[in-house]
Amino acid sequence: LVVNASKGSIRKIPETLFGVFFEEINHAGAGGLWAELVNNRGFEAGGQHSPSLIDPWSLIGDDSLVRVSTDLSSPFKRNPVALRMEVLCDKNCPAGGVGIFNPGYWGMNIEQGKTYNLVLHIRSPESINVSVSLTDSIGMQSLASTNIIETDVSNWTKVVAKLEAKATNKNARLQLQTNKKGVIWFDQVSLMPDDTYKGHGFRNDLFKMVQDLEPAFIRFPGGCFVEGEYLKNAFRWKETVGPWEERPGHYGDVWFYWTDDALGHYEFFLLAEDLGAAPIWVFNNGVSHQESVDPSLIEPYVQEALDGIEFARGSSNSTWGSVRAAMGHPEPFDLKYVAIGNEDCGKPHYRENYLKFYAAIRKAYPDIQMISNCDASSKPLDHPADMYDYHIYSDASTVFSLAKAFDHTSRTGPKAFVSEYAVTGKDAGMGSLLASLGEAGFLIGLEKNSDAVEMASYAPLFVNKNNINIEHSNNGKYFILLRWQPDAIVFDSSQSYGTPSYWMQHFFKKSNGATLLSSTLQSNSSSSLQASAILFQDPVDKKHYLRVKITPIRSLVENAGKDMDVTLLPHSLTCFDVLTKSDITQITTTTDDSDITQITTTTDYVSSI
Ligand code: AHR
Repeated sequence: LVVNASKGSIRKIPETLFGVFFEEINHAGAGGLWAELVNNRGFEAGGQHSPSLIDPWSLIGDDSLVRVSTDLSSPFKRNPVALRMEVLCDKNCPAGGVGIFNPGYWGMNIEQGKTYNLVLHIRSPESINVSVSLTDSIGMQSLASTNIIETDVSNWTKVVAKLEAKATNKNARLQLQTNKKGVIWFDQVSLMPDDTYKGHGFRNDLFKMVQDLEPAFIRFPGGCFVEGEYLKNAFRWKETVGPWEERPGHYGDVWFYWTDDALGHYEFFLLAEDLGAAPIWVFNNGVSHQESVDPSLIEPYVQEALDGIEFARGSSNSTWGSVRAAMGHPEPFDLKYVAIGNEDCGKPHYRENYLKFYAAIRKAYPDIQMISNCDASSKPLDHPADMYDYHIYSDASTVFSLAKAFDHTSRTGPKAFVSEYAVTGKDAGMGSLLASLGEAGFLIGLEKNSDAVEMASYAPLFVNKNNINIEHSNNGKYFILLRWQPDAIVFDSSQSYGTPSYWMQHFFKKSNGATLLSSTLQSNSSSSLQASAILFQDPVDKKHYLRVKITPIRSLVENAGKDMDVTLLPHSLTCFDVLTKSDITQITTTTDDSDITQITTTTDYVSSI
C-alpha cells in the first residue's frame, strides 16, 4: 500500500460519518441500557386491560396462603392495571411472610455497598407492614431489606425507600412480603441503581461501551420497533413522555417483548446529548409491517411528527417544549435529522405520504435534514430528500465487495445514510473476526466514497445474552440463538463484551472529520484487499496521526498461513494501525523511520476478543 501524503488529501471525511443505531431489540433498552431492575413494573405486560399479564412476577407462598390478580384500580389513567394481592394467612404465614417477587430481566445485579432506589405505589383498607428485600435467586440470602409500615394507605400512596446492599449477587430478585391477613394493591414498582450515568438512568458499563465508540450520531428508537407488526404496537412517542409512572408502555410485537417505555422520547434525546452524538429520530410514518395509512388519513401522523420535533426543539413555552422542560430540560435538544419511517420505501402510499411529511417539516423547520427510506445509490430519487437510507445485511464476501457500492453514485443528489449494516448468517454466527473484516472492507469503501455517504451505523447495537430464540432444524435438532445475531455488544445483568464487529468500529472512530489521503494498493490480489489511509489529530495529545487500515478478507480465509508483505510509504506520521495482524507477517516501512514514533497493530484487539 503506497500512501502518498505529500500529494495532499483527497477530502475531509464528514464529521458525522460513523455513529450508532440504537434499537429497542434484544432487550437493548428494557433490561439493558435502561438501568431499571424491575421487569413489568406496572403489571400491564398483557395490555391495559384486566386480566393482564404479571409475568415475570411470581408468588412467594402457595395459593392457599396468598392470591394475586390484576384489576383496573390503578391511580394512573393511562396504565390502569394494578396488582391485587390477597393474603389469606396470618399467624400461620410462613416465616418471612408471603407475597410476590420479581427476578428482573434474567436476574438483578445487586452489588455490595451500592444503593438501590425503590419506588412503589400501594393501597390497602388496613394498615400495612410489608417487608421489601433483595435476595439471591431463590429468596434464601438477604442482600438488602427495609420495611414499609404505614397506618393509612386507604388512598394510593407513593412509597420511596433506599436499599443498601450488604452482599453481591448477579442473579438477585426483589421481594415484597407480609404476614398480615388482608388485601394490598401494588402498582408501578421501580428499583433503580443509584449510580446510573449522570443519574440519567443509563447503565454505566453499557453507556461506556457506546461512548467508547465516540459516535458522531445516534439513530433511534428503531428499526422495526418504530413500525410494529401492527400500528397499535408501534412506538408512538407521545406515549413515552411525562412521568414514568404514567406511561402506558407497549408490547413490541416485532421483537416480542413488553417495554414500560421508561426509555422514551425524552430519554433518547438525553442519551444523545450525554454521548455528544447528534440525535437522529426515526418516526412512525403511518406504516407498520402489516398496514399503511391511507393518504387521506395521514394528517394526524404528520402532526405527531411535528409535535415530536417541537418536543425536542421547541421553546419551553411551546406546547410540547413545555413538556420537555417539565421533565428537566428547558433548553432545546439539538435535533437536526429525522427519518421518515424505516424500510418502508416499497410499501403502499410511502411516497405520497412521505411528501406530506416532507412539506410540513420543511415549512416548520427549514433546517431539519430529512431522510428517505428509498435507496438512491444506483438511481436518483423521484422525490426530494436530504439523505436516503441504505441497509445491508449479508455474508462477509458480499458486504466486503460492497465497498464499491457507492463508487458510481451521483455526487450531486442527496447523500447516503447507511443506517444499518452487518455481516450476518454463518460467516458471523454470534460475532466473528471474518464478519468484522467484511464490514471493515465495506467501511473503507464508505470512507473513500464519503463525498456520497454522510453517515453509517452497524446494527443491532446490543443484545442481552439471555434473550434467546429456540429454533428447530429439519433434522430434529434444536438450536439456541440470540433473538437477533450477531450484535455489537453482548451483555447480561452485570457484564458485557464487544464482538469483533464492535472492535472493528473502534478502528473507524477516528475517521470522523479526518483527512482521507491518497493511497494505492500494489498487490495482485487487490480484489481481496481494501485499504485506506487517513490523517487525524488526537484531541487529547494534539498530535497528528496517520492511520492505515488494510483488510485482507479472502486471504484470511483462503490463504491463511501465507506471508504477505505490506509496504507503507508514509510521509509524516506518528502512528499507523493495521487492521488485521493475523496473516500479515511483515511490515516494511520504506521511509525515514525517524518519522515514525509509534506503531500499533490490531494485536491488542485481536487478543481481547
Ligand atoms: O437491525 C434489525 C432490523 O433489521 C431492524 O429493526 C430493521 O430496520 C432491519 O430489518
